[in-house]
Amino acid sequence: MAQKKQIRIGLVGTGLMGRTHSNGYNRIANFFPELEYHPVLKAVCSRNAEKVKAFAEQWGFESYETDWKALVARDDIDAIDICTPNDSHAEIALAAAAAGKMILCEKPLARTLAEGETMVEAAEKAGVKTTVWYNYRRIPAVTLAKQIVDSGKLGKIFHYRANFLQDWTINADLPQGGTGLWRMDVDSAGSGVTGDLLAHCIDTAMWLNGAITDVSAMTETFVKERMHQLTGKVQPVGIDDACLFHCHFANGSLGLFESTRYARGHKALYTFEINGEHASIRWDLHDLNRLEYFDHSDESIVRGWRSIHVTDGDQPYMNRWWIPGCGIGYEHSFIHQVADFLKSLETGEPCGPTFRDALQTQKVCEAVIESANSRSWKDTGAEAIG
Ligand SMILES: NC(=O)c1ccc[n+]([C@@H]2O[C@H](COP(=O)([O-])OP(=O)(O)OC[C@H]3O[C@@H](n4cnc5c(N)ncnc54)[C@H](O)[C@@H]3O)[C@@H](O)[C@H]2O)c1
Repeated sequence: MAQKKQIRIGLVGTGLMGRTHSNGYNRIANFFPELEYHPVLKAVCSRNAEKVKAFAEQWGFESYETDWKALVARDDIDAIDICTPNDSHAEIALAAAAAGKMILCEKPLARTLAEGETMVEAAEKAGVKTTVWYNYRRIPAVTLAKQIVDSGKLGKIFHYRANFLQDWTINADLPQGGTGLWRMDVDSAGSGVTGDLLAHCIDTAMWLNGAITDVSAMTETFVKERMHQLTGKVQPVGIDDACLFHCHFANGSLGLFESTRYARGHKALYTFEINGEHASIRWDLHDLNRLEYFDHSDESIVRGWRSIHVTDGDQPYMNRWWIPGCGIGYEHSFIHQVADFLKSLETGEPCGPTFRDALQTQKVCEAVIESANSRSWKDTGAEAIG
């Protein structure tokens, strides 16, 4: 390892994303050995000393902190990885930018567009490298979808539709706020399914199909009041439990998006489908190694939907893994993002989505909420993303 250039990581947050990112860093040396840069797990931060110490030992961090400000202030850290709830993304990112650190930030970029704008401004002014973990782009079947769209095989695109369906908040007794339930509290999360789930769909959609220009949305909060874990009081629920919107893309195609946490039976059913003049593609997170593809130019007697098992060495990222036919999983999308981030340090290219790219998704999320609140169409102002 001596010849490698080191990127010393300081990671904040030891929950679900703290684990997926730590796993990503740990597996780079084995699966992307040619990269010039190597991640060093320098320090991890979380507020409970006992828990963060155990996390550091379990995942191989050299040290730990209980205050993210102390982490950001350390001279032996090059990059801050933000894996905390949405209400701390901006504060940590601004401090990291001021300290000249690279920033890897979980999605959504921020709770609001205004917060996101301060982050973009600070990072660009400081000239620090950024990336936001819209990780679904780096599932091989989704990356293959991007290659197919960019090759022009679909021809003119008419329709884009996406769903992200869950069912874990149907119980009206579920509290809001605090550990494990910050997503239910609008002050922590910024919004409900729009920023949490649809943001993923919007990032993928604009990456595959260009900018979303205007939206018409409806949201619903099915359970209006819930006990707050931190105050013990029953308080109004400020998040959207469900959100549906339709939209125009800059390329003239129409979009249809739905997300809810009230679709009984669905755990994380993220699906998208694109219909073009010559061909269509569709993908489903529950069967993530497959991309379905319909090509109208096929001979008519065998024409139909093909189910492409995206596990061949010719297909995106798959020459890193096992043998054709053997699938990979959710965690690999994070490993791929770490690898692409490290590669971008060699090439000097951005590692999309950058903060500026993620701001475009934030613009759409904000327009969606404004549209639902005002019952009117809203322009997003979003630009194309890389
Ligand atoms: N890319 C994805 O697919 C994906 C999936 C889940 C979550 N996320 C995003 O990742 C972020 C974290 O979500 P999660 O599911 O890991 O949450 P989580 O509740 O599992 O973990 C959050 C962690 O942050 C810590 N934390 C909170 N405030 C802190 C502070 N001020 N200082 C230090 N540590 C603090 C908590 O102790 C906990 O360890 C959110 O922004 C979320 O939207 C992204």
